[in-house]
Amino acid sequence: MRKRLQTKLSATLPPEQLKKIYNSFDIVGDIAIIKTATPNLENAETAANQIMVIHKNVKTVFAQSSPIKGDFRVRQLNLLAGENKTITLYKENGCQFRVDVEKCYFSPRLSHERARIADLVESGEVVVNMFAGVGCFSVIIAKKVSQTKVYSIDVNPTAFEYMQQNVKVNRVYGNVVPLLGDAKEVIQTKLQGIADRVLMPLPEKALEYLPYAIMALKPEGGWIHFYDFQHATREENPVEKTKTQVAQKLACIGTDYRFASSRVVRSTGPNWWQTVLDIQVSGKPSKF
Ligand SMILES: C[S@@+](CC[C@H](N)C(=O)[O-])C[C@H]1O[C@@H](n2cnc3c(N)ncnc32)[C@H](O)[C@@H]1O
Repeated sequence: MRKRLQTKLSATLPPEQLKKIYNSFDIVGDIAIIKTATPNLENAETAANQIMVIHKNVKTVFAQSSPIKGDFRVRQLNLLAGENKTITLYKENGCQFRVDVEKCYFSPRLSHERARIADLVESGEVVVNMFAGVGCFSVIIAKKVSQTKVYSIDVNPTAFEYMQQNVKVNRVYGNVVPLLGDAKEVIQTKLQGIADRVLMPLPEKALEYLPYAIMALKPEGGWIHFYDFQHATREENPVEKTKTQVAQKLACIGTDYRFASSRVVRSTGPNWWQTVLDIQVSGKPSKF
């Protein structure tokens, strides 16, 4: 489909514009979002119309007109073509998610990572998802793995509402427990020492919130999935840069740990990378 779109657009768009638009749109349910930073409006509208011709299921095309920002990690959208609506139904990993793409964070580019994490969870585990959004990681884990309990926290009331709906739609009620609030406070007041595994899918705050992830783990320890954004030149390794920062933080709180695995999740811009570390923590930290 992308190849067909590229061929169609190459007749009307200059090569530089074509490359930008072609590499930078996502489809979430029946909504497409073109993320190029500086869209020339006329070209963006041409591309939007072609996306709707080729992807017959797409009913709406937006241009993302701001970076993802603020505590809720949301973005501004400008309608380019089709119906003016921001709510859609998205299917992934055998689950369905209702999402408002303007009022909640959402990225289909994390689908592989969500499946990878669900594959690591064992039956009967207690999981804390500190930054759950509309509940994708949490619901997929609960759907794939029997007898799990996933405490699923988000500070955005709209994302929390959609998370509640997604728990119902996917019939994981009781296995996923949606909690509204700041992950720091929710863990301190309700979730200390209960988790086998903690997910931290908010790179901007992961280092600051790492002590609270450790606080949520059982006294014998467990797993933390730590996400980060790193700038790295050709000579640098973004995963090693994340490891260095995390190792410094863990040394400060006196934690025994090992980096069991690590990888680049995706590229997020020129020389920018999203990384993940799977950290195995043993026992309680000495400096809590
Ligand atoms: C990058 S999104 C995570 C999305 C989600 N894990 C997914 O796969 O779609 C980060 C989420 O963290 C939430 N958030 C930001 N600060 C928070 C905090 N202090 N406590 C809990 N949630 C927070 C935002 O509202 C946002 O939904």
